[in-house]
Amino acid sequence: MSPAAGRAGVVVLSTLPGDAVERLRAEHDVRYRDEDSQVPPGELPMLLAGADAVVVTLSQRVDEAFLDATGPQLKVAANVAVGYDNVDVAACRERGVVVTNTPGVLTDATADIAFALVLMTTRRLGEAEREVRTGRPWTWGIFHLIGVSVQGRTIGIIGPGAIGLATARRARAFGMDVLLSGRSAPDPDAVAELGARVVDLDTLLAESDVVSVHAPLGPQTRHLVDADALARMKPTAYLVNTARGPVVDEAALVAALDAGTIAGAGLDVYEDEPHVHPGLLARDDVVLLPHVGSATIETRTAMADLATDNVLAVLAGRDPLTPVRG
Ligand code: DGY
Repeated sequence: MSPAAGRAGVVVLSTLPGDAVERLRAEHDVRYRDEDSQVPPGELPMLLAGADAVVVTLSQRVDEAFLDATGPQLKVAANVAVGYDNVDVAACRERGVVVTNTPGVLTDATADIAFALVLMTTRRLGEAEREVRTGRPWTWGIFHLIGVSVQGRTIGIIGPGAIGLATARRARAFGMDVLLSGRSAPDPDAVAELGARVVDLDTLLAESDVVSVHAPLGPQTRHLVDADALARMKPTAYLVNTARGPVVDEAALVAALDAGTIAGAGLDVYEDEPHVHPGLLARDDVVLLPHVGSATIETRTAMADLATDNVLAVLAGRDPLTPVRG
């Protein structure tokens, strides 16, 4: 890119809602790929070359090759997501590139989907919807699609950050008891408000009727929920994952479901998106969503706005609002 004098070159790699792109264009020269899909790898170098700022989504890896293709003038990589496992933060730091994410604005939308998965799995709603939609004959019956109630049961939140705690609040409102476990201590006010117990992971796995995963993906959390962890869960318990796929060992999950080690699972994320383990696809005790945790127009617009604010701040020489420090 060769931006006009006094302006920077900004590359936006996929469609953004709202007026994010107009706001960027008001101050800078923008190369906008207005497509809601992953960039074909062959097109990346041409799009990126010479950018001072890039706006990316979570399906785009920001690695050494990406940084090489962009060039040494790059100042900021703004991820339109709270999770940033797609970004090689260390490589960015080494090159003086600021990385930003979008915490806060997607907390409620993602917690809504986590709790939706709790209800969908415990009440067999995926299976029920398929029954009607496929025209399978049914009549009201005492045991027809019978599920279990969440009231009086226990939810275990792995990773009690903002989204985990928001999910716990929803669970409380539905009459569930709350266990919390994570690498950092949860906010004590939230613990008190929820009447929650903070426990170690083994206790959480052993005592929960629903285990909901909210831990970010990193070297310490990859396959945190593995065969061993699944074996510690109750055979009547459900696993929900709205964080990142690789936090759960998908092959071990399929084996646990096959063996009846746990009762079912609700997943919004997968180890190798958009590929889904074939062992999950055929199962009625599994609810599968295509990574839609933050997919409301309000939330996605707020995410795009925050990414834009971060880019404009860094290009103006100010501190970004939500830098990734990892
Ligand atoms: C995030 O922001 O990390 C979410 O996964 C996007 O939905």
